[in-house]
Amino acid sequence: MPGIVVVGAQWGDEGKGKITDLLAERADAVVRFQGGNNAGHTIVHEGVTYKLHLMPSGILHPGKLCVIGNGVVIDPKILTDELDDLRRRDIDTSALRISANAHLIMPYHMLLDHAGEIKLGKLQIGTTRRGIGPCYSDKAARLGIRVQDLLDEKILKKKIVAAMEPKRLSLREFARDPRLDLQAMTEEYLTYGHRIKQYIADTSRLVLERLDDGELVVFEGAQGTLLDIDHGTYPFVTSSNPIAGSATIGAGVGPRDITEVWGITKAYSTRVGAGPFPTELDDALGEELRERGAEFGTTTGRPRRVGWLDLVALRYAARLNSLSALVITKLDVLSGQPTLRVATRYRADEGLETDHFPYHQTVLHHSVGEYEELPGWSEDISDCRSEQDLPAAARDYLRYVSEFVRVPIALVSVGPAREQVIWTQAGRSMQGYGARAAA
Ligand code: IMP
Repeated sequence: MPGIVVVGAQWGDEGKGKITDLLAERADAVVRFQGGNNAGHTIVHEGVTYKLHLMPSGILHPGKLCVIGNGVVIDPKILTDELDDLRRRDIDTSALRISANAHLIMPYHMLLDHAGEIKLGKLQIGTTRRGIGPCYSDKAARLGIRVQDLLDEKILKKKIVAAMEPKRLSLREFARDPRLDLQAMTEEYLTYGHRIKQYIADTSRLVLERLDDGELVVFEGAQGTLLDIDHGTYPFVTSSNPIAGSATIGAGVGPRDITEVWGITKAYSTRVGAGPFPTELDDALGEELRERGAEFGTTTGRPRRVGWLDLVALRYAARLNSLSALVITKLDVLSGQPTLRVATRYRADEGLETDHFPYHQTVLHHSVGEYEELPGWSEDISDCRSEQDLPAAARDYLRYVSEFVRVPIALVSVGPAREQVIWTQAGRSMQGYGARAAA
């Protein structure tokens, strides 16, 4: 049975949370496999808005196995705050499981993230300052503190000392910061360990068992393809691999356990933080789309940069993730535009034109979109529930995108509520899955 990966096909914030929530209803398990609380999912569930940063989106479905996999970096304060908040709202969290091998964001990671950005000055990446980069650095340097270390005071203290030792110089300016006091830090983290002990498990085995039993497992990506540390717009990227292949590493399953990969893209583009953005609209139209689409970060509240849909980048994402389906979100935000543009090529300096996503940083930085113009529509489409309900121009827009990237569209979202979606022919096999499984 399918292991389905949900990935961001752009720079994050594509609406993965809503789509994972829809699939979670049909799934037996939902697994997060990378990133940390740099992510932010807004889900409107039964009329209530939830803003989740670490929790898998499936947590809103009682009793469903929800896994925070080994590839995730966990700030245990945020984790315990989210657990408290969900419990206050009567959401059952007993089916949450946290990988014993997941790495922990420590207070010094947050301080180093912040200090690193300040030092970069104009060259700064625009990180979320949640300590993500320094935590993954320690993981690679084999100096990380893992969830399992929270259960043994002696081991925890020894590992904190070892991790802080090589950072002494860069942490000098925080020498008197109470957050770096060894004893206080150890005690605080032991308390977190005590609070999450019941959830700690060998999550790889749990997920493999589900797959062996033929159950549907959704692997929920965070951030997006173009923020991938290997394949994105380096160095303006996050420190993990948000692409689909990373689901196997970050959850502990094999490549053949993944049968479907859904790439989520907005009907236009957005990006938070610095870095190249070839279709950026730095004008009144960009402002209008930002307002209409409420494009302000869930995690940091920063206004998102806005641009036309970039089909060069989307086709690149389709290949990197081997997408089996596309999901187009926020199509309703484009209503009322007389003409729509989609980038089908890039033009860089000296008249250089390309229809491939440039691997070279300098070329990418100088690239701007070359556009195809498509007719817009004026109708409000937020009540459309089938492709036939959509105006012809909206159907044509979707067809153009799908044909250009050569991936079928499974689902289209036309508003924030979970019922504001259109399942297409290609998506119906998944829509019917829950019903078939129950029969
Ligand atoms: P970091 O992940 O906090 O290190 O930030 C690195 C880059 O990724 C910055 O440009 C952030 O704005 C961006 N980023 C990280 N997480 C997200 C996300 O969930 N959505 C959109 N952008 C993100």
